[in-house]
This record gives sequence, C-alpha cells and structure tokens, in this order.
Amino acid sequence: MVAPVVDAEYLKQIEKARRDLRAFISFKNCAPIMLRLAWHDAGTYDTKTNTGGPNGSIRSEEEYMHGANNGLKIAIDFCEEVKAKYPKITYADLYQLSGVVAVEVTGGPTIDFVPGRKDSLISPREGRLPDAKQGVKHLRDVFYRMGLNDKDIVALSGGHTLGKAHPERSGFAGPWTEEPLKFDNSYFVEMLKGETEGLLKLPTDKALLEDPEFRHYVELYAKV
Ligand code: HEM
Repeated sequence: MVAPVVDAEYLKQIEKARRDLRAFISFKNCAPIMLRLAWHDAGTYDTKTNTGGPNGSIRSEEEYMHGANNGLKIAIDFCEEVKAKYPKITYADLYQLSGVVAVEVTGGPTIDFVPGRKDSLISPREGRLPDAKQGVKHLRDVFYRMGLNDKDIVALSGGHTLGKAHPERSGFAGPWTEEPLKFDNSYFVEMLKGETEGLLKLPTDKALLEDPEFRHYVELYAKV
C-alpha cells in the first residue's frame, strides 16, 4: 500500500486515460455500471478504523463476489483495458476516474479529479454497502460510518438517475428514470411523483421521502 508518485508523467497518464474512458464509456453505453463500480469501491469506507474506501480492493475476487457487488466484474474487466495502457495509474484512481467520466459523459458536471489513491488488496468484510431492502436508520448507519451526512446521503442517492437494476444481479428490475443514460435531477423529480409504471423505487429510495430531513433535500434537488 504505497501511494503512487503523482509526478508529471502520472498526471499525463491520468489525462490520457480520462480521454480514453470518455470514448470507451460513450461507445459501450456503460456509464451506469462504471459509476456503480466507483461507488462500491469507495462505499466500504469506515472512518473509525480507516479501512475500506476507494483503494481498488474491489478487484479481488473475494470482494467482487460479495452479494452487493453482483455484476461489477464487467466494469472491473472494462477498466483492465485502460489499466493495460496506463500501468502507472493505480486501480484506486482508475475506478474513481471511471466514475467521474461516467458522470461527465452523460451530461453531469465536470468533476475535479485529485489523483494519488493507494491500491490495496485487503477487502473489508461483506456487509458494509447499503442493503436496498432496508430503511432510514440503516442508511444513516452505513453513510455516517463513511463520515457522510444526511445531505450527502440524498445527493449521492441521485446517482440512480443513471442505469437500472437487473433481476439476475440484485433481484430488482428496471430504471429509476425515463432516460437512464442521462445525468440530471430526474431521480428526485420522479421520487416526488410517486409510483410510475416501469420505473423502480427501492425501499432505500422510498426512505428518502419518509424522513423529514432527507425529504427536505429531495424537494430541494427536484427543483434545480
Ligand atoms: C443509498 C443506498 C444505495 C442502495 C441501497 C443501492 C442499491 C442499488 C441496487 C440494488 C442497484 C441495482 C444493481 C443491479 O441490479 O444491477 C443499484 C444500481 C445502481 N446504483 Fe445504487 N444503491 C445505493 C446508492 C448508490 C450511490 C450512492 C450511487 C452513486 C453515486 C449509486 C449508483 C448506482 C448506479 C449508477 C446503478 C445502475 C447500475 C447499472 O445500470 O448497471 N447507487 N443500486
């Protein structure tokens, strides 16, 4: 677990990888799964023990076989193609960069990328990522453990503006929005509309409407 040396050469590889990822993700229409990969590598973080987090450990079989990570091997393999061209870049940086590019190419904001994450192959125990079947308390337990707050929970849940659930991966089905390859605030707009045929709302999505603090942010982001 040695931090990469972020010198001029490293930054050059990051810029080139960013360009390649833009082309690759647009061509494959795989932005949603790349964002999910970045989130699942990062979302195991525990502030108390300073373990888990965006360290590339999701590439180990032990971790990508965790139930919550079903299907993510596809995104891990996509990243291998980029890693082969830019070997200096750590997996930890590459996975987060893929998430950044996924947001960017689907119409989201350009996100500053600060490289320098260390790789690790030490996987956290299974169960650190949120369980879609649970509710308000569980969301707070899991995200507070990462050092995040209520606003962060709602904003991050907006990641479901992209992509869809696959029955064979999670047991859930369908997209959250009408245009799952477009990054906008429609996740929040849909949340406030209630049930729409063909669109998904996980129990953890619905929990954002039940809690007044969460709901306040859903209403705010639906207006933007
Ligand atoms: C709040 C707790 C969360 C829960 C319980 C949750 C759960 C899920 C589930 C069950 C799926 C379906 C997986 C499949 O069947 O392919 C999914 C997909 C997805 N999640 Fe989440 N998620 C959460 C938060 C997030 C966050 C914070 C992000 C990113 C910022 C995110 C991004 C995505 C994306 C982009 C997909 C679509 C993947 C695809 O189309 O292949 N999720 N999530």
